Amino acid sequence: MLAGKRILLIIGGGIAAFKIPALIRLLRQQGAAVTPVMTTASEQFVTPLTVSALAGEKVYGDLFDLTDEAEMGHIQLSRVADLVLVAPATADLMAKMAQGLAGDLASTLLLATDTPVMIAPAMNVRMWLHPATQRNLVLLKGDGVQVVGPDEGDMACGEFGPGRMAEPEEIAAACAAALTAGPLRGRRVLVTSGPTHEPIDPVRYIANRSSGAQGTAIARALVGLGAEVIFVTGPAEVPPPEGVTLVQVETARQMRDAVQAALPVDAGVFAAAVADWRMATQSASKIKKGASGLPVLEFAENPDILAEVSQMTEGRPGLVVGFAAETDDVVAHATAKRIRKGCDWILANDVSPETGIMGGSENAVVLISETGAEPWPRMGKAEVAQRLAARITEALGAG
Ligand code: CTP
Repeated sequence: MLAGKRILLIIGGGIAAFKIPALIRLLRQQGAAVTPVMTTASEQFVTPLTVSALAGEKVYGDLFDLTDEAEMGHIQLSRVADLVLVAPATADLMAKMAQGLAGDLASTLLLATDTPVMIAPAMNVRMWLHPATQRNLVLLKGDGVQVVGPDEGDMACGEFGPGRMAEPEEIAAACAAALTAGPLRGRRVLVTSGPTHEPIDPVRYIANRSSGAQGTAIARALVGLGAEVIFVTGPAEVPPPEGVTLVQVETARQMRDAVQAALPVDAGVFAAAVADWRMATQSASKIKKGASGLPVLEFAENPDILAEVSQMTEGRPGLVVGFAAETDDVVAHATAKRIRKGCDWILANDVSPETGIMGGSENAVVLISETGAEPWPRMGKAEVAQRLAARITEALGAG
């Protein structure tokens, strides 16, 4: 996803710097070259030796290092990359960037660069919410700086709230999206995929035959068009695509929470085969055979994630695409389903065993929208994905 790209990684001095070695590995696994620059403070949290070893390059650190200047002047250093990534972007670095200060190598590079800049803020929740930081954030966004995160959660300082640096995977995905010149660049798309598993007891669960192949192919096609993709997947057979923000879940309720956390998005594609039911009560210990005869499983209904998102009154994605797995009267059932759930499009497919579609490599779908039913010829799942991604691009006015 990042093959042939060079990222100038400016590492700020915050506790989140401990995640930087993992980030460097991910970026390099995806084919990027990483040139690290460390502030003096960051060296308190991660050693230059670790950073250099993982990046496979020297670490730049001091503005007035004569050897560095002889090898590559700081102005030139600021221009060699395809993207300048600041992670963790501390409150101090953000303030320096917003004000155009250039007192050390990191801030000087940021002032001198003519390449796109992305920041991954990380700081204490009060510092993040402080009007000064929020003001700086507005200024930076106004200057075209892209922002990934921060996430909300437990923080190293013991507080809870927004300010935790985005996970390395999310940052790497944002870099991939920023560096892929495609019509969906700058658009956020959510894709759900795979089956869900609903536990019966600690060792048994209810599942379905979804392999996750179609959802994975769709996510891959969207990434290929430059979208930032949040990929929420149940336990699928196929490996997840590269270049996405990966959220792995097991149950329908976990998938619902992950979907809600991913909003707002420009479009949502709900390809997951979500279990309609879960156990009304899940046994905490393994159910034993014998004594009390055959077990009777009592079900409770799972949340309908697609319907919930489709029917949001505020913050609904601009385009919501559902799937309909049917075994008979495909178009009639799927048309009714589209209206019942409130989504914009439904990709309906016949999953009768004789079609070999569920778990297979091909798909034959009918695109159902307000304007009617459009059957697509039987084709590979990757082609279905590409065709759908192209239609999404068109619908978002991004073509
Ligand atoms: N879906 C969902 N949450 C659920 C069930 C389904 O988000 N709890 C989504 C699927 O991801 C898919 C669509 O709804 O996009 C249709 O799923 P399908 O299983 O075909 O429909 P059901 O809701 O199960 O309806 P029915 O039982 O009538 O077939």
